[in-house]
Formats: sequence, structure tokens, C-alpha cells
Amino acid sequence: MLEAVRVEKSYAVRTQGRMKAFHAVRPTSFRIEEGASYALVGESGSGKTTLSQILMGLLPPTAGDILLDGASIAGKSARRDRNVAAQLQMVLQDGKSALDPRFTVYDSIAEPIRNLLKLPREKERELVVSLMQRMELSEKHLHNRAGELSGGQQKRVCIARAIAVSPRLIIFDEAVSGLDVIVRKHILDLLKALRRERPCAYLFVTHDMDVAMYMAETIHVMKEGEIVERVTCKGNQTLFVHPYSRLLVSSMA
Ligand SMILES: Nc1ncnc2c1ncn2[C@@H]1O[C@H](COP(=O)(O)OP(=O)(O)O)[C@@H](O)[C@H]1O
Ligand SMILES: [Mg+2]
Repeated sequence: MLEAVRVEKSYAVRTQGRMKAFHAVRPTSFRIEEGASYALVGESGSGKTTLSQILMGLLPPTAGDILLDGASIAGKSARRDRNVAAQLQMVLQDGKSALDPRFTVYDSIAEPIRNLLKLPREKERELVVSLMQRMELSEKHLHNRAGELSGGQQKRVCIARAIAVSPRLIIFDEAVSGLDVIVRKHILDLLKALRRERPCAYLFVTHDMDVAMYMAETIHVMKEGEIVERVTCKGNQTLFVHPYSRLLVSSMA
């Protein structure tokens, strides 16, 4: 469904008084198939967020193209293009900054529905309530603001927002980093269950090989702007051969 064709991103940076091109993402091709699960794993600074924002159409690549069902979406902000936004959603690390602090839980979840689905009031409310139930959020939080929720609850609101419009792909950028292990496991298991109910492709962007192995069938290992190894491992960690991948595997808890 979504394909990156030799995308790259470089930034002009000043080093020792001279401008040089810094390659945040080196020419990379990537395919996302309908309903499959992927991870992009690598240390901080390896270019994961840059690549995932390019995949979303949020950041224009320096070269290359992003095709959604064969049509270019490169650099066409998914925020502006409603058709793309309804198909590709993203969940970010910091639940608090991803949620507008002035919004209630109801309004946060209803926002993408209002922008993209435009349901009658009653249907909108039914959908918000059913999404909250699905994410195991009590209805008593309906009128709370983001700051009144725990980190795990904020994260579940963000996920409810992302799934509200039934996207074909959700990219989770360090979505469970910073949560304690029990909360993290709960959220990952909710996401697994969700994918069994409604077909949707997942891309987990993470520095954590544990999360990648737990969530994804196919893992892309990224280092210094390059994908150094891709393995359809389905949980089998012995299939990684690149020394950097082995290092990530060996550092797993
Ligand atoms: N706007 C920018 N200008 C210059 N350098 C940037 C910019 N955005 C990201 N970078 C650099 O690109 C590299 C990759 O960043 P990022 O994609 O955020 O990595 P990751 O998500 O893997 O931690 C980093 O070295 C970062 O400093
Ligand atoms: Mg990042």
C-alpha cells in the first residue's frame, strides 16, 4: 500500500565554520503491505523519526518519492490532505504534547472524527464512547483534560484518536518509551488485540529491540541514516546477522 522509493533527507549544517550536508536518511526504499506489522529499530539519532515523517508525507524528502497506492504523497502534509490523513495516522512518544491540554478527552478523540468523518452529533458520541471502552478508558474520564490523566491513560487517548478514523497504517514513534514496563505491556497487548479485530498495518519506530521483536513480523534495523538489515523474523532473533543488529539483540533484557 505504501512505498518509499529511494528517499533521502539531508540537512545543511555548519561544522567548523563551513556548511556541509548532513545525511539524516541515506537513500532508502521501504514497503508497507496492507495489514502487516513492521518495526524500525536503531539508536537515537539514526534517522528513524525523519524517515517515518517522510513516510507519513509530513516531511518532504530531499530526493526520492513516497507512493500511497502508487500515487505520490511526498511532502504533502497529511495534516492538510484529508484523504491521506484518514489513511495514515501516527502516535508519538509524549502523550501530553500530542494532546491539546485545553481539550477534554472527549474533544481530543472527537477531533479527528470531526475533521475527517463529519458524523452527526449522536453518532460521534457513540463512536467516542466505544473507542474509550476499546482502549479500556473509563467513561468517567470523558471530561478530564490531558493533564489530569496518567501517562498510560494519555497514551490510550492518543491511540483512540489514531484508530478513530480506521486508518490503514499507524506509525508509533517511540509510542511506549517512557512508560513503566507493566503499563507498556498492557498497551502493547491492547494494540495486538486491536489488530486482530481490525486489519491495519503497524510500524513501530523504537530504539528498543524488545518492543520491535514483541510487536513486528518484519524488523528494519537502522544505523546512521541507513537500513543495515531487514529481517522477517516473527520472533526468531537468531535470524539477525549484521553486527549492529546482533548488538541490539544482545542488549535485550
Ligand atoms: N531539522 C533538522 N536540521 C538538522 N538536523 C536534523 C534536523 N532534524 C533531524 N536532524 C538530525 O538528523 C538525525 C536523525 O534524527 P532523527 O530522525 O530524529 O533520529 P531518531 O528518531 O532515530 O532519533 C539526528 O542527528 C538529528 O540531529
Ligand atoms: Mg526519533
